[in-house]
Amino acid sequence: MSAHPILVLGASGSTGRRVASLLRAAGRPVRPASRRGEVRFDWTEPRTWPSTVTGVSRMYLMAPDGVPVDPAFVACAVDHGVRRFVLLSSKAIDVMGDERLMSAERTVRESGAEWTIVRSDWFDQNFDEGVFRDAVLAGEVALPLGDLRQVFVDADDIATVAVAALTEDGHAGLTYEVGGPRALSFGEALDIIGRAAGRRIVYRGTEREFVAAQTAAGLPHESATAAVAAFTALAGLGDAEPNDVVRRVTGREPKPFETYATEAAARGAWNV
Ligand SMILES: NC(=O)c1ccc[n+]([C@@H]2O[C@H](COP(=O)([O-])OP(=O)(O)OC[C@H]3O[C@@H](n4cnc5c(N)ncnc54)[C@H](OP(=O)(O)O)[C@@H]3O)[C@@H](O)[C@H]2O)c1
Repeated sequence: MSAHPILVLGASGSTGRRVASLLRAAGRPVRPASRRGEVRFDWTEPRTWPSTVTGVSRMYLMAPDGVPVDPAFVACAVDHGVRRFVLLSSKAIDVMGDERLMSAERTVRESGAEWTIVRSDWFDQNFDEGVFRDAVLAGEVALPLGDLRQVFVDADDIATVAVAALTEDGHAGLTYEVGGPRALSFGEALDIIGRAAGRRIVYRGTEREFVAAQTAAGLPHESATAAVAAFTALAGLGDAEPNDVVRRVTGREPKPFETYATEAAARGAWNV
């Protein structure tokens, strides 16, 4: 087992926190990094990069929403001895025109190091830690996806796949589409959360309701309509289908959404 620490970017975030914790539980040395982390790393401050990557040979590579994976950072990591990247990406990025993540994938594929790409479906944790938390608490979530079904996936399962790719052989050069065990519409997912949390949460699934919610939240009309275009492209793919990636890579079944919701509610995730 290598004595080099495994670098975990976004180590305070939904996936990075879990990746770091699983690595520690497996007895692996970890270097957790973020702007406010043990190791100070900032995508926007290149002077923080060399000290972050020195002495590291493997890395969980993620950038927060809206932040590109700078090819200069990846080159800096390779120059300092990084030999394996496990990149967090997202499903359907090509169809949705997500240039940020397509470019991140190209960058690791062309890095000269080993790489594995983890293309995740929607995180379960969007509802209690991430982008939909405030809307869930407000009792109304708007997204222009109608009854489209998605395979929401638990961040624990994403992290377990990432840790396998970081620590085991046999995952290099592979792109894993990571999803949960069952396809659910946003309306169905919110009903499950509503029952677990004892809250009434209404799903607004039309384009008009989404744009109204976005503009009421102060976002520019153009960004709402650009998001509608991306979501319309996603909807064009039809309902998502579960696959066996989590089981194949980790040896265990992915967590059902109901279990996620029950556990989060029991933790008081939606108590305010
Ligand atoms: N949500 C979904 O359903 C979904 C699905 C597929 C893919 N994704 C992708 O997942 C990624 C987000 O992952 P996540 O949810 O695990 O992260 P997250 O919970 O949003 O956390 C972001 C992490 O990045 C760190 N960070 C923020 N700004 C930074 C900066 N300028 N430099 C360095 N670190 C910074 C934060 O810590 P500090 O504040 O301490 O810096 C935090 O640790 C995005 O790229 C998104 O596209 C999301």
